[in-house]
Amino acid sequence: MPTASFTVAIDGPAAAGKGTISKGVAARFGLAHLDTGLLYRAVGRRTLDGVDSVTAAQSLTAEELEQGDLRTADVAQAASKVAVIPEVRSALVDFQRAFARRAGGAVLDGRDIGTVICPHAEVKLFVTASPEVRAERRYLELNAKGADVTREQVLADVRERDSRDAARSAAPMKAADDAVLLDTSDLSIDDALAQAIAVVQKKLPVAD
Ligand code: DC
Repeated sequence: MPTASFTVAIDGPAAAGKGTISKGVAARFGLAHLDTGLLYRAVGRRTLDGVDSVTAAQSLTAEELEQGDLRTADVAQAASKVAVIPEVRSALVDFQRAFARRAGGAVLDGRDIGTVICPHAEVKLFVTASPEVRAERRYLELNAKGADVTREQVLADVRERDSRDAARSAAPMKAADDAVLLDTSDLSIDDALAQAIAVVQKKLPVAD
């Protein structure tokens, strides 16, 4: 495990495998992990209760990230909508940067980690997969949780979120120029994780 700050930035669209890869990389190297999508989901969740998005972002608490109902399709759409608002994004920057700098190192996954939040991250990965493959993965996940959704709905949702996340002017989803691209469309999760681990391994500081 690195002793000084060591940041791994993992970006990419919904259901590309970012979450699993991030957790796996964090576990393999003993790094802390922050799923930054949860911050936007927690803010989006509050807007569904009628709270103003900027107020929700500015008053976000750690407990709100632990809520059980942040992984629904409605909350994902609400998160993508609040994520367009520059004041919402800027209210969440300090927390993410402080997390990234923690001693022992950290993995952060999201959409703008390698470009905006941690442009100097030691490792940057952009994890992607075709919309059809991502929608199928998300459909199976939602279905297993008993959600009443069709494949078509999930694909439409994935496409809608992709275009909103990539087209917004504030910190749009895109690969940093120096990110390593990892397309998981035809990879098993074990192979995708092994490739990500190999990328991180090469950048680890060598112990003296
Ligand atoms: O990663 P996720 O699906 O949980 O993210 C939910 C939404 O939050 C996503 O559609 C866009 C937004 N998001 C963002 O704009 N920037 C991030 N770093 C992480 C998420």
